[in-house]
Amino acid sequence: MTDLPEHVRINREMWDKQAAQYVAAAERGWRSNAPAWGIFQVPESELHLFPENLNGKDVIELGCGTAYVSSWLARRGARVVGIDNSAEQLATARRLQREHGIDFELIHGNAETVPKPDASFDVAISEYGACLWADPDRWVPEAARLLRPGGQLVFLTNSYLMTLCMPPENDVAATDCLLRPGFGMGRIEWPNDPGVEFHLSHADWISLLRRSGFDIEALIDVRPKPDATTRYPHVTLEWARQWPCEEAWKARKRGAPISPSL
Ligand SMILES: C[S@@+](CC[C@H](N)C(=O)[O-])C[C@H]1O[C@@H](n2cnc3c(N)ncnc32)[C@H](O)[C@@H]1O
Repeated sequence: MTDLPEHVRINREMWDKQAAQYVAAAERGWRSNAPAWGIFQVPESELHLFPENLNGKDVIELGCGTAYVSSWLARRGARVVGIDNSAEQLATARRLQREHGIDFELIHGNAETVPKPDASFDVAISEYGACLWADPDRWVPEAARLLRPGGQLVFLTNSYLMTLCMPPENDVAATDCLLRPGFGMGRIEWPNDPGVEFHLSHADWISLLRRSGFDIEALIDVRPKPDATTRYPHVTLEWARQWPCEEAWKARKRGAPISPSL
């Protein structure tokens, strides 16, 4: 624990404390085999975050939490590994694995330094996991190391625009004003929240992904349906219908021909 970077230590303590609040969503996620993403649960049939064919693919979920995303991947034939920084989140994941009879490897650790060899995976994915809570300068190159040439990185996180419009108290809704500088965003700590988050501008994501060895395939602005609902306080449906509150990135590790099945 003491040799973990400071932000990883802080986030471990926070997520261990908060894990109980994520059990109900975890149970819902594991019960459903119809993936739905993020704050407004936008269906996979609209977002297409998963590669078309997952059968037999090696996939790692970086910051898997309660691992419902991993359960969807496993049900689609992927050989899944989930890594998460919180033992409490993983305890929920392990219980749900037993209850649903779906088994895959779960690692308690930091997604910035994953105990797996180079080029072990075809796909790396993160939904509000490492992509929000780990240092991008560490987890993105680590994802590149873990992926085989031609492998795909997919992640979903808060949008750059929404982060610019968030009041300091991040449990109130995003405004329609720019409330913080867009340059040099990086590490963000909200005054009423003990965790450490990381947010980048689009230019900074592109630059980091490219210098880590990725080509960018898509940046998807997520838009909920007019009747969507959310349990989160930090954005209203009215806001999210006008501006993207979440963004999904798809990037491909350079170095080999793209496999048609990915
Ligand atoms: C919001 S959950 C994401 C999981 C799930 N998709 C969800 O939305 O509930 C965030 C997870 O990221 C994990 N996390 C934070 N920092 C991490 C790190 N450096 N390495 C691995 N996991 C990390 C936390 O422990 C937490 O379980």
